[in-house]
Amino acid sequence: MIKFYSIYKSDLNIRNKILSSIKKVINKNNFILGNEVYEFEKRFSRYCGSKYAVSCSNGTDAITLALISLDLPKDSEVIIPAMTYASTFYAVLNAGLKPVLVDINDNDPLINFENILNKITNKTKAIIPVHLYGSVVNIHKLKKIINKKIIIIDDCAQAHGAYYKNKKRVGGGNITKISTFSLYPGKNLGAYGDAGIITTDNKKIYNKLKSIRNIGALKKFKHETIGLNNRLDTLQASILIHKLKQLDKLNNKRKKISQQYFQKIKNYQINFLKYTNYSVFHQFVITVKNREKFIKYMSKKKIQVGIHYPHTINQMKYFKKIYGKIKFKNAEILAKDCVSLPIDPMLTKKEVNYIIKIINNFN
Ligand SMILES: Cc1ncc(COP(=O)(O)O)c(C=O)c1O
Repeated sequence: MIKFYSIYKSDLNIRNKILSSIKKVINKNNFILGNEVYEFEKRFSRYCGSKYAVSCSNGTDAITLALISLDLPKDSEVIIPAMTYASTFYAVLNAGLKPVLVDINDNDPLINFENILNKITNKTKAIIPVHLYGSVVNIHKLKKIINKKIIIIDDCAQAHGAYYKNKKRVGGGNITKISTFSLYPGKNLGAYGDAGIITTDNKKIYNKLKSIRNIGALKKFKHETIGLNNRLDTLQASILIHKLKQLDKLNNKRKKISQQYFQKIKNYQINFLKYTNYSVFHQFVITVKNREKFIKYMSKKKIQVGIHYPHTINQMKYFKKIYGKIKFKNAEILAKDCVSLPIDPMLTKKEVNYIIKIINNFN
């Protein structure tokens, strides 16, 4: 069986280092906000090119914390794409704000700018573009077309290590006000459990985030702001320190596999999506009209594939319950037809060629 993604294989060469770091944390008995947490934050902000990074419990809370740190008025609207993981939507609700959906581009997983402009009202206070599948939203262009007062928080949960442009990394601080990352195990940079991190160049926001994630306290028993318990565990931080070091290498492997797919998959039933130049291919997503048949066929040939995602945000039961029925053409076509091919960076040449051959024989 060709697995969709094996974390075990990706980490095999750093496994011993990870195990010895875990042992060290256990021996030190410092599980909450230990040195490793601050060390990982320092390394991650340096990697992204931001002034500050605040780690937290997961990527959903990272977005919620970012929104809470902005102190927006209660009835503020926050624009998000109709095609993203449920978390982007829930994070806005969890921050007590109103999510406003916008369609994605045609045959391209990223939020459509024209539709953003159509949805902006005087209550729009923030936009959360999502770098879906590791393809990167053109933030420079977005900033030019929207009112400067509208704050951009980019959801980078699927784009660790990607570039906006000009060698400026996603999460690099001064491009958007705040960037949020999930460090869920299956992400390009993933922990061994739930984890997340936020980057910013804004010192005020940085201090607020540190306080909010720690029950309103920058110092023990000095609770001075709104507070949640959203800290990153020291154990996870000790693992992430090692994993960060091999992120670029693994991203390059993803890019190489994707190039092979683009060049060699030739089947009129398979359609490629547009990816931007600096994509890190968190997922390699194709669309195929007869998805069920394709998935059954791949499974018979012992190749695991995925669906990201089977429903758009507006198709979710809970969304409909609150906001009623609305439609987004491009997002819904993608949700209906999308299939994610294996993009495990450790796939061998032989495995990649086998996947390509099997897809080319699909009819
Ligand atoms: C685009 C996007 N945003 C947010 C999240 C939430 O991250 P987490 O699962 O760490 O809460 C994810 C994770 O799947 C995601 O893909």
